[in-house]
Amino acid sequence: MFSETCTLGQIHEHHASLPSTNDRALAWAREGAPHGALVIADAQTAGRGRLGRRWDSPPGAGLYVSVVLRPEALAATRGWDPRWAALGLAVGLGLRDGLSRWVPDAALKWPNDLLARGRKLAGVLCETRWQGSTPDVVVGFGVNVLQREFPAELRATSLALEMSEGTCPSRQDVLAAALAGLEPCLRAFFAGGFAAIRGRYERHSAVLGRVVTVGGAEAEALGFDDDGALRVRPRAGGPSRRVEAEDVWILPGGDAG
Ligand code: BTN
Repeated sequence: MFSETCTLGQIHEHHASLPSTNDRALAWAREGAPHGALVIADAQTAGRGRLGRRWDSPPGAGLYVSVVLRPEALAATRGWDPRWAALGLAVGLGLRDGLSRWVPDAALKWPNDLLARGRKLAGVLCETRWQGSTPDVVVGFGVNVLQREFPAELRATSLALEMSEGTCPSRQDVLAAALAGLEPCLRAFFAGGFAAIRGRYERHSAVLGRVVTVGGAEAEALGFDDDGALRVRPRAGGPSRRVEAEDVWILPGGDAG
């Protein structure tokens, strides 16, 4: 089905509708799905994002995809190593690479958003469930493809809105491109951790060197630790600190300077 990848999507399930492709992929992983097994749905009725948020998944408008990951590197580290916490950043970078033929300036907003012109184009949700000492790892991603309207508060966009009339690719083409971007990026990540992709990640970061609001205070985004945490320096003074799970907002025009 996907001629541009060796493993991702070579085994797949296609559903007209699911509550959440991540749930289906986690269940499939529990039943023994191999590395790269992919679940796609045309619609989700309970699509979810990070921090328990909803991911709107109208029929036929976006890509709603989840992939089971079982790389050898995970087995070699008996399932977990602090480095693997940066997996979501690697997935974001791979997605960006895949979609760059249509949105060359797309940027990565830590930790899991892909932005086009500052608006959310795609999101990533990595989830792990343990079976004894073996992790079932699923990466899910949603890409806005054909939607033409979003609630203003979402500050979202789609490929259709970013491209000129009549040039928007099909969801099938977007999926093939996304997987083609993801596969080498994940291979590099599992071989060398975040360090192996840091340079490219930083080049496309929307937050690096910017002033952000985090935990109700302004801070300068300094860089990324090897486990993918964002390192910031509070503008009010004091030492730099790690941001692991909080939301980060980019201040308009907030170049740290
Ligand atoms: C986020 O932006 O917080 C992450 C959004 C992830 C959405 C995708 S759509 C496919 C997969 N299934 C889900 O329920 N969520 C992810």
